[in-house]
Amino acid sequence: MEIIIQPTAEAATKIAARLMARTIREKPAAVLGLATGGTMEPLYRELVAMKLDWSKLTTFNLDEYIGISPMHPQSYHSFMCEKLFSKVNINIGNVHIPDGLAKDVPAACAHYEEKISAAGGIDLQLLGIGTDGHIGFNEPTSSLASRTRIKTLTPQTRKDNARYFERAGEVPFHVITMGIGTILESRHCALLAFGKNKARAMAEAVEGPITSMNPASALQLHPKVTVFLDEEAAVELKMKDYYRWVFEQKPDWQKV
Ligand code: F6R
Repeated sequence: MEIIIQPTAEAATKIAARLMARTIREKPAAVLGLATGGTMEPLYRELVAMKLDWSKLTTFNLDEYIGISPMHPQSYHSFMCEKLFSKVNINIGNVHIPDGLAKDVPAACAHYEEKISAAGGIDLQLLGIGTDGHIGFNEPTSSLASRTRIKTLTPQTRKDNARYFERAGEVPFHVITMGIGTILESRHCALLAFGKNKARAMAEAVEGPITSMNPASALQLHPKVTVFLDEEAAVELKMKDYYRWVFEQKPDWQKV
């Protein structure tokens, strides 16, 4: 795992955007795995400002709420259209987001997995992290081999996400999420985490044992993960000075 610690979320986001831009320029028909949530908003603003060519890209979002329509202002469909897809030249036929209104959820999940495979797999998967260590919506105790499926949100995640809804009770209980096994098959994962409420989850994910109690810790099994942190999210990392040292000593050819 490469851990990049920056003084601010803004500085870390700019480097993450450069990593994404490089992927897009090097492989114009790349397959991107996308995430939603507050952490991603400034990243998508940066990417929009870079005026990249999205015309040949294919995207797969990590997750979607079950039971709310794609038109609902808090659906992840709406989030993605508002923050990114309406502002770049993406071919909307190449955009994939789980169907939260699917009649047959297991069949829709299996089909989602088939579409990822048919697209050749994900080149770069963006990830945020929940305060409980979830990636996608793989809550603690999720199987580390899981595939796209239905999950029930924890009360903590519903509380964390209530800020986006008019009333806390409106947050759906269920979601469709790519599994941890699905995420681990991506060729490169980029995880962004900012603020002190992510510090514990990040310390456990990076330096703790691999455990389904912190689903992000499964990323320790992945050969290519880049983690972007601000100082606050890095505060509980025991080896943070070493991670800074590694970043400073990077050979030119490895720099983003
Ligand atoms: C959303 C997703 C989640 C979020 C996580 C952090 O698509 O996959 O794992 O990344 O809940 O959300 P924020 O960024 O709002 O703190």
